[in-house]
Amino acid sequence: MRRIKVKVRHGYVVMVGRDLLKDCGKFIQTGDTRIKKIFLVSETNVAPLYLDKTRKSLEDAGFEVVEYIFEAGEKSKNLNEVAKMLGVLAENGFTRTDAVVALGGGVTTDMAGFAASIYLRGIKVYQIATTLLAQVDASVGGKTGVDLKEGKNLVGAFHQPSLVICDVDLLQSLSDEVFAEGMAEVIKYAFISDRDLYEKLKNKIDKNSPDLEDVVARCVELKAYVVEQDELDNGLRQTLNFGHTLGHAIERNSNFTVSHGFAVAKGMAMISRHSPIYNELVEMIKLYDLPYEDDSTFEDLLGGIMNDKKKRGSKITVVLVNEIGKAELKTIEPNELKGYL
Ligand code: GLY
Repeated sequence: MRRIKVKVRHGYVVMVGRDLLKDCGKFIQTGDTRIKKIFLVSETNVAPLYLDKTRKSLEDAGFEVVEYIFEAGEKSKNLNEVAKMLGVLAENGFTRTDAVVALGGGVTTDMAGFAASIYLRGIKVYQIATTLLAQVDASVGGKTGVDLKEGKNLVGAFHQPSLVICDVDLLQSLSDEVFAEGMAEVIKYAFISDRDLYEKLKNKIDKNSPDLEDVVARCVELKAYVVEQDELDNGLRQTLNFGHTLGHAIERNSNFTVSHGFAVAKGMAMISRHSPIYNELVEMIKLYDLPYEDDSTFEDLLGGIMNDKKKRGSKITVVLVNEIGKAELKTIEPNELKGYL
């Protein structure tokens, strides 16, 4: 098992390994003996697989557990659902020394993290990431939030977790499609910051690859470094948005029927259309059974682009990769994206 430290103001550890879930209660208890109650948040796809095991581990460690299960999917990631969570926390008398545990993928980590960030002006959150996407991205770095109908992640807070558990064994239960979604973010790390990772990915990684743990750990290290340099997303951290401006607009335009990972794969390819690395990127996207083209016109995507939360004034910052392993930020007028579609 690897323990990767994220050295921010409230620093924490990301554990990456196998067979970790059964000990999650012990890991949390060892880190903070004041916690009495745990608000265990999960969703309808993950709960039947891992809720009982998680609950048992938490109860065996002496915690009182209150469960909250929401309907799986991006459509649940809204303020109404968070308001319901806050109500259950208050009804059950959660105090500042209690904690939230998020058990799930990106929607769960974002939403449970956000509820934790605002309940009593902030209580601890522990992330147990069950998808590849959440393990390599969403659970690490403290971005929490929900969507508005106007756009993705438009409301949120920075709230670093107290511990992140990435149990690679949990990825076995992912469908090929959901696994591929996470690979879109892995490919992103390779192209923006790590040529060696790119070389490694040329031999296709799947759920059973012995290299999977290494790949997850490497992505977490890369993310930890970026978050340490720029916790609040004003500089280097923006490179993690490679493919995301167009990706978020594609997701929104499809009414979230195109998943985040698939939209990011398309967004990375589209924004790289004029780049010398375009062919290598598209080859890799295809190797992982991800899409790289989208039928949307600029007009279809404009609403999503204009509501991009990374917009500063009238301009947006896009991430360009002209050499594998190196990302550049470029501030442009939204209209300039027309040339990429
Ligand atoms: N998912 C991008 C970030 O955490 O900054």
